[in-house]
Amino acid sequence: MDKIIVENLRVVFPSRPAPVEALAGLSLRLREGEFACVVGPSGCGKTTLLRVLAGLEQPTSGVAAVRADDPARPLRGVVFQGAGIFPWLTVAQNVAYGLSLHGVARAEREQIAQHWIGEVGLERFANAYPAQLSGGMQQRVGLARAFAYDPEVLLMDEPFGALDAQTRLILQDLLLQQWERARKTVLFITHSIDEALTLGDRIFVMSARPGRILHEVAVPFARPRDLVALRTDTRFSALFGEIWSLLKAEVEADKLIGK
Ligand SMILES: Nc1ncnc2c1ncn2[C@@H]1O[C@H](COP(=O)(O)OP(=O)(O)O)[C@@H](O)[C@H]1O
Ligand SMILES: [Mg+2]
Repeated sequence: MDKIIVENLRVVFPSRPAPVEALAGLSLRLREGEFACVVGPSGCGKTTLLRVLAGLEQPTSGVAAVRADDPARPLRGVVFQGAGIFPWLTVAQNVAYGLSLHGVARAEREQIAQHWIGEVGLERFANAYPAQLSGGMQQRVGLARAFAYDPEVLLMDEPFGALDAQTRLILQDLLLQQWERARKTVLFITHSIDEALTLGDRIFVMSARPGRILHEVAVPFARPRDLVALRTDTRFSALFGEIWSLLKAEVEADKLIGK
């Protein structure tokens, strides 16, 4: 059954001097429990798509819907690039934050937060403030908060985009391990083909702005995935090439138009 349905989505921002058409005729469907990645050139509307699905932006026309199955649980959890954690709250308070909004009692909140802080390897930093943490550790807090919140679907917008390559691999591995257990429906946005192939069951390739889906790739790698072995698989390089040639054409076409 489809969990996320986007049908002919169009989003136009009423900017000056001229309106900006961010998305035009974008359609995609995610099955329950599927990990889908969206890759696309910079500025093609990826964040706009995610914001619409998160309920933070309204479609100009078309449909963007997340099917709710469990009224007791939050429907959507969002992880943004900058981790989006509050500098004035400790790690533990940040992780518990979403739960307090959802009416979970204090003792239970603390227990859940503690569990997830352990899962992401930040036990020793539960009472630290974000400014005392590295970028990778801050992103761990963002993940722990999303896992603790336990939404039906997880919407992730380039959460590892600002991290160095090693930290990125470690956090991809952490995300995959947790996802193996929960098998939540995930829409993960990235500009990295490599990351999309590492994480996703399916990859949607977007066009240049106004964004729509150009191509869809089924990722053939078995799970649980070994991030190192994956990179030596000949199918990895073949799919990388296939997706890159599509993206390259989009980026070049975009430059010619001079948008
Ligand atoms: N609130 C807004 N007002 C005007 N233009 C916007 C707004 N949000 C995004 N845009 C424009 O819409 C296009 C798509 O943006 P975005 O979704 O952030 O792209 P991406 O995440 O793929 O880089 C860009 O041209 C951007 O400048
Ligand atoms: Mg973006």
